[in-house]
Amino acid sequence: MTLLAGLRLDHPVLNASGTLDAIAARDVLGDATLGAAAHVTKTIFPDARPGNPSPRIAETAGGMLNSIGLPGPGIAAFIDDVLPRTRTCVGVTPVIVSIGGESVSDYERLAALLDGVPGVAALELNLSCPNIESGCISIGADVAETLLVTRRVRATTALPLLVKLSPSVSDIVALAAAAVDGGADAVTLTNTARGLAVRVDTGRSVLGGPGGGLSGPPLRPLALAAVYAVRVALGVDIVGVGGVDSLATAAELLAAGATAVAVGTATFRDPTTISRIAAALAPPTSIEAR
Ligand code: FUM
Repeated sequence: MTLLAGLRLDHPVLNASGTLDAIAARDVLGDATLGAAAHVTKTIFPDARPGNPSPRIAETAGGMLNSIGLPGPGIAAFIDDVLPRTRTCVGVTPVIVSIGGESVSDYERLAALLDGVPGVAALELNLSCPNIESGCISIGADVAETLLVTRRVRATTALPLLVKLSPSVSDIVALAAAAVDGGADAVTLTNTARGLAVRVDTGRSVLGGPGGGLSGPPLRPLALAAVYAVRVALGVDIVGVGGVDSLATAAELLAAGATAVAVGTATFRDPTTISRIAAALAPPTSIEAR
């Protein structure tokens, strides 16, 4: 059993927000894709968003850049349609809803709308997406704004709160401390790092957006450094995210101080990565217990 932000989880392996659509995964790939101890949704905004122009994904040395731009149907359609269908897919697995906004009041409004909705086990504040013009990382790169948004959401709901931060900031410990001071129960470290792939013929971004978020194994050392620093400084619950693709790489983040880990990019190569790591982490059942 893993205790994360007050949630009792069967094991310490989650999906990273935005990398596993439970509905599509089950329909197309089958139940083996759904082993997360808690299912984290794609970040939802107050209003529908189209996302960024394509191309949205590019391979880079050992990892991936994305410029998805947080497309989504908006909170009303999420509550009425996406959430109930997600719950049908994941069963009794707790659902952590990732929320994003362009302003502090967007987050506050989303928290108020989600408070008391059946099946919402916790909220994750996305203060770190690098792919939008305003909001998310523009709030989460600033200590005072991070404190304010977490405090406002905390005053709005009693749901467990996770705050997801970016590695592309000057002082991750100060930002995590602001989140904790504001009432966060856990921090998620980290989202993707700001990156760029450039076309030599045009000098422009390979992706449709001006840059992208770097994920996969190249992110792992950054995530490890963030997890270790925040754990030593604050002792708060942490979800470690960055290049988790095996039992060994999950174990590294747990050893650095993460309470749980989340798998993202690796699920694109092997959608059963979460369930494989969870099974490998499970203690063998003793003969007496059988
Ligand atoms: O662009 C995106 O949809 C990525 C989201 C994130 O990194 O939080």
